Amino acid sequence: MKKIQPSLSPQDIVCAETAAPPNAIVVFGASGDLTHRKLLVSIFRIFTQDLLDERFYLLGCGRKKLTDEDFRKTAQQAIQESSSDVSAKDLNAFAEKLYYMDGDYNDAVFYESIKARLVQLDKKYKMDGCHIFYLAVPPFLYSSIVHHLGVSALSCINGSDSKQRARLIVEKPFGRDLQSAAELNDKIRRCFDESQIYRIDHYLGKETVQNILMFRFANAIFEPVWNRNYIDHVQITIAESIGVEHRGSYYDKAGALRDIFQNHMLQILALVAMEPPASFEADPIRDEKVKLLRSIRPFNSNELDSLIVRGQYGSGSINGEQVVGYRAEPEIDPKSKAETFVAAKLFIDNWRWKDVPFYLRTGKRLRTKDTEVAIFFKKVPHSMFVSAGLTDIPPNVLVLQIQPEEAISLGFQAKRPGSKICMSTLNMNFSYKNIFGVEMPEAYQRLLLDCMLGDQTLFNRYDSVEIAWQLLTPVIDAWQDEDSAPWLYAAGSESFAQTDTLIESDGRAWRKLAEI
Ligand code: BG6
Repeated sequence: MKKIQPSLSPQDIVCAETAAPPNAIVVFGASGDLTHRKLLVSIFRIFTQDLLDERFYLLGCGRKKLTDEDFRKTAQQAIQESSSDVSAKDLNAFAEKLYYMDGDYNDAVFYESIKARLVQLDKKYKMDGCHIFYLAVPPFLYSSIVHHLGVSALSCINGSDSKQRARLIVEKPFGRDLQSAAELNDKIRRCFDESQIYRIDHYLGKETVQNILMFRFANAIFEPVWNRNYIDHVQITIAESIGVEHRGSYYDKAGALRDIFQNHMLQILALVAMEPPASFEADPIRDEKVKLLRSIRPFNSNELDSLIVRGQYGSGSINGEQVVGYRAEPEIDPKSKAETFVAAKLFIDNWRWKDVPFYLRTGKRLRTKDTEVAIFFKKVPHSMFVSAGLTDIPPNVLVLQIQPEEAISLGFQAKRPGSKICMSTLNMNFSYKNIFGVEMPEAYQRLLLDCMLGDQTLFNRYDSVEIAWQLLTPVIDAWQDEDSAPWLYAAGSESFAQTDTLIESDGRAWRKLAEI
C-alpha cells in the first residue's frame, strides 16, 4: 500500500526540538523502579538525540548503599533492557555523567552533603544552569524532602538569573484527597514558587494526548461541531490488561479513582472539552483546563450510584493465561475493598456542553489495553432511507486512539457496491505508525526535556489538582462507608452489569474495546 506522506509546510520547521540549556538533575529514589524503567531511559534518549547540554550531569540519591559505579551499572542495564538499539559508546559516555549518594531523607545532614556534592559537580562540569530535583519516591516522603530542600536552601536560586532557579518535579499521586493535596501544595509552596514546581501527569507527555490540542485547535472544521448541538455524548476509556504488578502496597491504598481517574482521566477530559486557549503557552492552557474542571457538575451524594460505579477484579483469564484475582495479588489485603475499575457519568455545566454526558471508564485486568476518546455525534435527524428499512442510521463516531495503537478514525456511512440502497459504516483511519513511521517517544522524555527548558505547559498547576480532588470528595467519602464495596468482575472481561447499566439506562452503550 502506498504510504501517505504528510505534506511539508512552513510549520514543519518547528518540528526541530530545542536542546536543553545546561542543568543538572538530582533524583530522589534513584535506586527505584521509576528511575530505572522510565527516567534514566528517557534522559538517555534525550542524550542520544543531542538535546542534552554537555554540562549536564545526574546525581541519584537513595537510601540504598551504592557507589557511583554500582549506580552506573544498574542504569546501563536498565537502558540496555529498554531497547535493542543502544550503542555501547553512547551508553558509556552517558554513564560517566551519573553519580550517586546514599542517605536518610529525613536527616538534614544528607542535604548538606548533597549541597557539597553539587558544588563540586557544578565546578567539574562548569554547570551554571539550574538544579532540577525529581521526587521519584513514595508520596509519604514528599513533604520531608521538600522541607529539607527549603531549609538547606537547595530550593533557592543557584545564581542570579531566573533560568538558574531550582526546579522541583513531583510525581503523582499528588495527595490522596483534597485536604492532603492542599496541605502538600502549601508545604511545597513554602519552599518553591509555583513557577519552580512541575507536577507530573505522564499522560500529558504522550504524543497522542498532546495531539488533542492540535486536532481541536489547528483545524477550523471541528470547532463548529464540537458542542452540544452536534455531539450526543463522549466516551473516554483507559483500559489496562495488566494487574497491580509489583505495586500492590501503593495501589491497595489508592485504588483506580486516585490512581488514574483523578489525574489522567480528568486531564484528558479537560483537553477534550476546554475552550480554545489564546496561545500555546503554559498559563493560557492551564487556565482553560481549570475553568473546565470547575464546570463539571458536582456529584450529588443522593444519586451517586447512578453516576459512578466501581469494581474489583476476580480471577480470570487474559489472552489464554489464567490470572489471580486482585485480593490474591502480592501485598494486597485479602479483604481489600480497593477498586480496580471505575466508570462514571459526568456533565459539564457550561454553554458548550450542557446536558452532554461524558462517560468515563478505567480498569485493570480488562480484556486488552486500550486508551481512547470517542466522540459520538448526533444521529441524522431524519432518515430518507426508511423504505429500505434503514430507520436507525448509526451516528458518526470520531475516535482519538491514544494507545497502544496511536490513531485517529472517523466512522461514517457510505454506499456499498451492490443493491441501490446498500450502506455500511466505513472508517477513515490515520495511524501514526503508518504515516510517520517512527516509534512514539516516551512521555517522560517530553516532560523531562520540557522541565529542562522551563516549559510548564504539560504540567499540572496546583489549582487543577485541587479542583479534581474537590470533585471526587463526595465519592471518596461515600466509598469509605463500611457497608459499601466494589462489584466483582472477572479478569479478562470488558465490562460488568452495573457499569453497563450506567450507560444503558440512558439508551447508549459502551464502545467495544479495541481488537488488538
Ligand atoms: C500510572 C498508574 O500513572 O499509569 C498505573 O499509576 C498505570 O497504575 C499507568 O498502570 C498507566 O500508564 P500507561 O502509560 O501505561 O498508560
